[in-house]
Amino acid sequence: MSVIILGIESSCDDTSAAVIADGVIRSNVIAGQDVHRRYGGVVPELASRAHQQNIVPVVELALREAGISGNDVSAVGFTRGPGLMGSLLVGTSFAKGFALARNIPLVEVNHLQAHILVHFIREQNNDHKFPAFPFVCLLVSGGHTQLVMVRDHLVMEVLGQTIDDAAGEAFDKCAKIMGIPYPGGPWIDRYSRNGNPQAFRFPRPSVRGLDYSFSGLKTSFLYFLRDRQKNDPGFLERNINDLCASLQYTIVEILMENLIRASRQTGVDTIALAGGVAANSALREALTAYGRQNGWQVFLPKPSYTTDNAAMIAITAYYKYLNKDFSSQDTVPEARISFKS
Ligand code: KG4
Ligand code: ZN
Repeated sequence: MSVIILGIESSCDDTSAAVIADGVIRSNVIAGQDVHRRYGGVVPELASRAHQQNIVPVVELALREAGISGNDVSAVGFTRGPGLMGSLLVGTSFAKGFALARNIPLVEVNHLQAHILVHFIREQNNDHKFPAFPFVCLLVSGGHTQLVMVRDHLVMEVLGQTIDDAAGEAFDKCAKIMGIPYPGGPWIDRYSRNGNPQAFRFPRPSVRGLDYSFSGLKTSFLYFLRDRQKNDPGFLERNINDLCASLQYTIVEILMENLIRASRQTGVDTIALAGGVAANSALREALTAYGRQNGWQVFLPKPSYTTDNAAMIAITAYYKYLNKDFSSQDTVPEARISFKS
């Protein structure tokens, strides 16, 4: 009998439901929330209200697209954390009700682990190549930046992480400084295509070991722009492409430096990328080029699996289901959760 998992993701500002049958994706529905755009960032209270409105139609659509009914589902997986508490509560409560009504297992999922496991989602009629264990994953999202040693589907160890802002935050905060709408990462990627990455140089952080830091870059970008604009009010407008390209180049260089160091230190040359910033074209190109020159096996996620989605929750719940790693009805969401769920 097939194992059919319904995955629910509601950790931030995307409401998503997905169906995975025996590890093969059947549907992945995502409802974004435009309501935050005008505030320049996610407003938690508005996010949870939008999740409330979206969750039922999103799940219904995911089931319909998968061609199944709720009664066909073997288990329901949900994001327990990390994320915004009000947002997590919506998905968690829905998943509990769904599991209870059908008397099926409930499986809690760590959102960060799930970002990494997108590399194990199989498409129908597709000969998918999985990364071999162990591999190092650079997990770069709006809330997290981590280098993770992945020893097995559910056995992971953090090698290094940001001590302040995440890489996605660096993109988004610098975009905000330039008056670019939230989330700014994809916009910076777009502007950069017509810009010179060497036009401006921003300082690199000095952090020990395999940790990252991005808050200094944001501050120096703010002061740099403020000083230039003071003497030349049209500076930003005239140089937006070069500013974006130079900023993006700096962020990618910082990310690559520790990734290369992590590979050297561990002797692991199977490398994967995951999280929202994994959609960044310069990062994908830099990793591909370095990998080709240095004999790395590089795994880039499909762009639709980079930002938050429930397919990643469903695939993680699938592996936990195979391990009979179930959660009880008194499980509560955790806004801050350590990497091991
Ligand atoms: O993983 P994700 O959807 O949410 C979190 O779990 O945080 O990541 C969202 C982040 C945002 O900071 C967004 O600006 C960034 O991913 N992002 C990008 C690109 N696409 C999304 N950053 C740079 N270039 C992109 N193309
Ligand atoms: Zn995420």
